[in-house]
Formats: sequence, C-alpha cells, structure tokens
Amino acid sequence: MKALTYERYGGPEVVRVEDVDAPSPRDGEILIRVHASAVNTADWRIRAAAFPGILAIPGRLMFGIFSPRNPRLGSEFAGVVERVGPSARRFKPGVRVFGMATSGGATAELFAVPETGAIAEMPASLTFEEAAAVPFGALCALVFLSDYAGLKPGQKVLIAGASGGVGTYAVQIAKALGAHVTGVAGPESQDFVASLGADVTIDYRKTDLTALEGDFDVVIDTYGMISPRLSRNLLVEGGLFLPLNFGLREIGAIFLNSFRTRKIRLAVNEDRMDDMLRIADLIEAGKLRPVIDSVYPLAEAARAHRQVEARHKRGAVVLRIEGASE
Ligand SMILES: NC(=O)c1ccc[n+]([C@@H]2O[C@H](COP(=O)([O-])OP(=O)(O)OC[C@H]3O[C@@H](n4cnc5c(N)ncnc54)[C@H](OP(=O)(O)O)[C@@H]3O)[C@@H](O)[C@H]2O)c1
Repeated sequence: MKALTYERYGGPEVVRVEDVDAPSPRDGEILIRVHASAVNTADWRIRAAAFPGILAIPGRLMFGIFSPRNPRLGSEFAGVVERVGPSARRFKPGVRVFGMATSGGATAELFAVPETGAIAEMPASLTFEEAAAVPFGALCALVFLSDYAGLKPGQKVLIAGASGGVGTYAVQIAKALGAHVTGVAGPESQDFVASLGADVTIDYRKTDLTALEGDFDVVIDTYGMISPRLSRNLLVEGGLFLPLNFGLREIGAIFLNSFRTRKIRLAVNEDRMDDMLRIADLIEAGKLRPVIDSVYPLAEAARAHRQVEARHKRGAVVLRIEGASE
C-alpha cells in the first residue's frame, strides 16, 4: 500500500510516498481504509522537528532524538473500517469514521489504530475530504475553549490567528458556546473570519495589538503574536490567556499567576474519544462545519507540507488518498 513517510527531519522535500507493508489490526485495534487525510501544523512540526519553545525537548524525546522513530507521517484520517482486531467491538466493518492520532501513520491507504482513540463515526452529511479537515483544529479549539477556559454564553473571547487551522474552528466553537468573538487575522482573511461567525475582526497588519486595551474574558493565541504582558492589557480581571505555543517567557508568567488577577494557562490537548464524539455532535447539530483551504492528491504531499509551513492556510489542507495505488 502507499503511505507518506520520512527518514530524517527536514524541509518538505523529505516526505516520500512509498510502497510499504499494510498493517494488520492488533488486539483492540481497527483497520481503516483511509480516503482522505490532512497536513496540519503538528504534522509539519513533527516532519521538521520544529517543536516550538520548550517543547523542543519533549518533542524530540517523543518523536525521536536524532531521527524520526516512526517513519510514517500523518495524524488526521477519514475512511471506512475495513477490519477489526480481536476484542475490538466499537465499530463494525463498513462504518465511516474520522479522527486523529498524533502517533502518526494516518496518511496511508490503510491505518491501524486503537478503537479507544480519538475516533468517531462520520456525520452523514460529510464527505471524506471534509471529515479529514476537522479533527486537529476542532479538537484543539474545543478542549481549550470549553474545558480549559470554561467559556460561557455572553463572555468575550479574542482569537488571534482566527483564519488558520485551529482558529477557524475556535471561532465557530466559541460562537456555539454563546460567546462574543473577536478574530485577529491578516488583511485578506477579514471577510472570511466574519463569515465563520466572528462578531468583530481585527487586521494584525493595520492594528497595533500592543496599543489595544480590551475587556476580554479569554484570549487564545494560535500564532504567537501576544505576549503574557500584552494579554494582561487585553483581559478583564479574572480573565484567562491561552497561548497554544509557549517558551520561557510564558513559563515565567505561570510562576507569577498566584500574584495576578489575570491568569495564563499552558497546556497541550490530547487525542480523546469523548472530544471527537462532541465534535461529531456539533457538526450534526449544524454548529460546526469543515473549513478546507485546499485539497491535494497524495502524490503532492510535499507541496501540501510547504503550504502548511507558510502559516497562511485558511482552515485545513487535505490530502486525497483514495485510489493512490491506481
Ligand atoms: N498546545 C496545543 O495543544 C496545541 C494544539 C494544536 C496546535 N497547537 C499549535 O497551535 C498553532 C496553531 O496552528 P494553526 O494550525 O492554527 O496555524 P495556521 O493554520 O498556520 O494559522 C496561522 C494563523 O496565524 C496568522 N498569521 C500568519 N502570519 C502571521 C503574522 N506574521 N502575524 C500574526 N498572525 C499571523 C494567520 O493569519 P492570515 O493567514 O490571515 O495572515 C492564521 O490565522 C501551531 O503552532 C500548533 O503547533 C498547539
């Protein structure tokens, strides 16, 4: 079968589409015939060992110190359950599923994954390409806004990087939670961010964020444009800053949390089944929709990686896998 692989960390040119052995589902696993996958910012960071800030050390420990431990790339998938391993009971063959597995290997014609992972049945209205566009951004946005921030109806949230892979889902989920949303994005993304439901949009090229004073209950930054100091100007008393990437500056701010009325929280969300089920429910309820920037055939995966690394995609970059061997 065809799979996306890499042997060393590096630029987009290190990714290869190769013929590899097909996996078999082990105990508790399901084997998925993948129809669509995606390239997200985590896939780019894993391919390039471009782990941000202090995540450089745990990142290398997890994915391989000098070279990749798992040569198979890809974390998001949408496809059909082909077979199930012994004792796997959650899905029957033929069911359409979508999900996320940061451990890698999802960008392949066949992918074996524990059935207890971040997997859900696909909402009937979605195509495989649409379903593959959802998990990474929606899981992160849901867990940060709903669980870490406990966002409530009527609260005000600022989403920095509102047009990207996480931001496009964060805008929609914040609206679904009843919040008032301000989205920060580039000049060409203003109307797009408003079309996702943002009440107010800010162009980061025109507006100097450091001069802003805000009354936000929650500030979430997907790009790294807001410092802990700036976040305190933007938040109300009791407000919370959630930077998705963090270094020593943010860790230093954590130590001062108990002395401050405006807090910061540093976290990494996991791939959890319950969260995928909540996302599927939001889609079924018409409160969340997939956002696709572009779709590439698997053979053009290096091009997709290059686009993701440029940091200006709108939503997700999807890879079409179906028929890759034909
Ligand atoms: N902590 C965690 O658990 C966790 C989980 C998931 C992701 N992450 C991290 O979160 C980040 C989010 O990734 P993503 O997929 O949303 O990124 P993305 O798709 O690359 O989106 C980037 C966003 O930043 C904006 N942007 C680009 N250049 C900018 C600049 N110079 N100044 C200000 N804004 C700029 C883009 O706006 P325009 O295109 O409109 O210019 C876009 O809205 C990644 O770094 C990822 O590693 C962390």
